[in-house]
Amino acid sequence: MADETSNYMGDGIDSWNSTILLYNSALKEIGTKIDILNDEFQHVHQYNPIEYVKSRIKTPESIVKKLKRKGYEVTIDNMVKYCDDIAGVRLICSFTSDIYRLADMIGRQNDITVLSVKDYIKHPKRSGYKSYHMIVTIPIFLSDKAVDTKVEIQIRTIAMDFWASLEHKIYYKFEGNAPEYISKDLRECSAIVSMLDAKMLSLNEAILEAKKEEYVP
Ligand code: GTP
Ligand code: MG
Repeated sequence: MADETSNYMGDGIDSWNSTILLYNSALKEIGTKIDILNDEFQHVHQYNPIEYVKSRIKTPESIVKKLKRKGYEVTIDNMVKYCDDIAGVRLICSFTSDIYRLADMIGRQNDITVLSVKDYIKHPKRSGYKSYHMIVTIPIFLSDKAVDTKVEIQIRTIAMDFWASLEHKIYYKFEGNAPEYISKDLRECSAIVSMLDAKMLSLNEAILEAKKEEYVP
């Protein structure tokens, strides 16, 4: 799959543009799929599980930095092979339960192949980071062939996203070496985020239950 993407390329700026075209197309395809799932979910469950969606293409600087960090020569072939997050989509959900529903709905689509899953909600990172990550491929249909293209999908609640954004800023401020008391406070905040998510989920369930009882046919 990764090889297929790199075979599509020749050399230089032309191959860079062809590669980015693939990743941009993959973001569009995934974006449309997510819109459709959200609409269907609204139709079946009467609410939108997705609060908002962010997508981005990794900057050339970040791609180069990542390849160097991983000890690979900076080539387009290597970037396609070893960078799984050149195209990235972040889905921000209302409730934790929505995350698993969405991940399942995405994974069951026939043209999507799930390459790997990291569940940092069940197994948070030491930092306190929580999110559900999937690396998938989606075929991009060009004039003469289909090229499976990788996309990293991160799914998290608003509260998890709030934590991650702040932690990201702090991480950069201290260039990865935040003082221990700050890291500790961040881990505590992460526990509060989980508590909040659990409370919001049970509150929502109670609301749905109350609505059902109200309903007289
Ligand atoms: P990278 O090489 O950094 O992409 O890590 P990885 O290949 O091991 O993948 P992982 O799933 O751990 O992380 C991928 C992405 O998740 C990162 O690029 C961030 O967007 C996010 N992420 C992972 N860990 C953290 C964390 O501790 N804090 C925050 N704020 N974001 C994180
Ligand atoms: Mg990454």
